[in-house]
Amino acid sequence: MRMTSTWSLALLWSILCAGPAAGQGRQPEGWDRNLRLPEAVDTNTDPHIVEISLDARIAQVEIAPGVRAEAWTYNGAIPGPLIRVHVGDRLIVHFSNHLAQPTTVHWHGLRIPIQMDGVPGHSQPEVPPGGSFVYDFIVPDAGLFWYHPHVMSAAAVGFGLYGALLVDDPTEDVGVPDELVLVLSDIELRPDGTLESPDTGGSGGMAFGREGNHVLVNGREVSRMVARSGAPQRWRVVNAAKSRYFDLDLGGQIFTRIGADGGLQQYPEELKDVVLAPGERADLIVAPRAAPGAELVLQSFLYNRGYGSTEARPLSSDLFTIAMTGDPAVAPMPRPQVRRAIEPLSLAGATAVNLELSITQQANGTFDYRINGEPFLAGKPIPAKIGETQIWTITNTTVWSHPFHLHGFFFQILDKDGAPVRPLAWKDTINVPYKQTMRFVVKFDEREGSWMFHCHILDHAEGGLMGMVELGMDHSQHER
Ligand code: C2O
Ligand code: CU
Repeated sequence: MRMTSTWSLALLWSILCAGPAAGQGRQPEGWDRNLRLPEAVDTNTDPHIVEISLDARIAQVEIAPGVRAEAWTYNGAIPGPLIRVHVGDRLIVHFSNHLAQPTTVHWHGLRIPIQMDGVPGHSQPEVPPGGSFVYDFIVPDAGLFWYHPHVMSAAAVGFGLYGALLVDDPTEDVGVPDELVLVLSDIELRPDGTLESPDTGGSGGMAFGREGNHVLVNGREVSRMVARSGAPQRWRVVNAAKSRYFDLDLGGQIFTRIGADGGLQQYPEELKDVVLAPGERADLIVAPRAAPGAELVLQSFLYNRGYGSTEARPLSSDLFTIAMTGDPAVAPMPRPQVRRAIEPLSLAGATAVNLELSITQQANGTFDYRINGEPFLAGKPIPAKIGETQIWTITNTTVWSHPFHLHGFFFQILDKDGAPVRPLAWKDTINVPYKQTMRFVVKFDEREGSWMFHCHILDHAEGGLMGMVELGMDHSQHER
């Protein structure tokens, strides 16, 4: 069951500049108490097997003092429990469904067999209300991944069903021991605290992508962290919102980005803000700095994702405050130069795949999204052979940006409107901005099956921005 490929074995870490020595520049005791996620309990004594229970159920959650909602949850909380494994471990998840609707669990970004991918009809049958399913696979790559349902996804994710999966590589040392997993999301509540209907705004709401009115980090609105000024922290961030983009800002302080979707990237980038489209991840080093006793606020700027996304809306949302202790600030120190050798995939002999994303308005005024002019149900699957390299060109003709996600495989971005994109990173989700074209290269391995791709604005996916790759199957009936 373990998957190997030449490039995944070619990982190479080099730490050119070690971080602070252990114990030095560390955060105060309890610094992340309000933000730390509950972790799934491993019931297996084998050190290389992580065995957990996960159930989907309605539960009351408190997103801010006195603000409660009956959310859809994994194990009673939003987000669901943080699942921690080491790369190469076997993960066994005893899943049970206590919702009134069928569901599944999709493991976003994991290169696992199709039977474990959580797509009804292609991976497994839906898990009915009261039913259960055992997910059991080897975790092949280090990085931050996440899990969510693949049935009524826009509603289910919007109502709270998502969680993070952190895959550590014990040989990787970025020199920043204070680490926090941050799950960004939002939820739409009516004034009386009940969940807003998932089809508000009708077809126009679908075309835009519905955003929640409460912005959450680890399930809390405007939470609080305590930090020692200037001491570095490592943030592992995932955008689990169903439509909202995040553009992280810490008063202009620098984020050092060291990784993306599939683990560490080629070399670090110093950024004043970090954009995460739905589904994307970032691995960041930050050293929040302010006068002892002062407070900073991590904010998300309003991000222009197309028509109507920036007009008449608040310019920023507060995510959490960072309260500095009274300790003297830690002197500025060089950021760890975390690098990873990533071989560019060879383009020799690659097959071209062209996808044009469009939107059509019907005579009755409703919208539908299309790929190559076809609504989802009429679209032909994209055939792929085991070992085949494909170059995908995604042309977005619509007035909204689309975070494009491919299940089961990492790809490398080639260019955006013809301009190369660096540093190299393994990606499974990329933002294709409105009216622009992105190209990526993917090499399919031996994991046969029907693999989905779709926009990770889940309303858009359900509105037609979905398709399938048929890998290693009999393609005689299809023409390319
Ligand atoms: Cu997070 Cu079908 O994806
Ligand atoms: Cu979209």
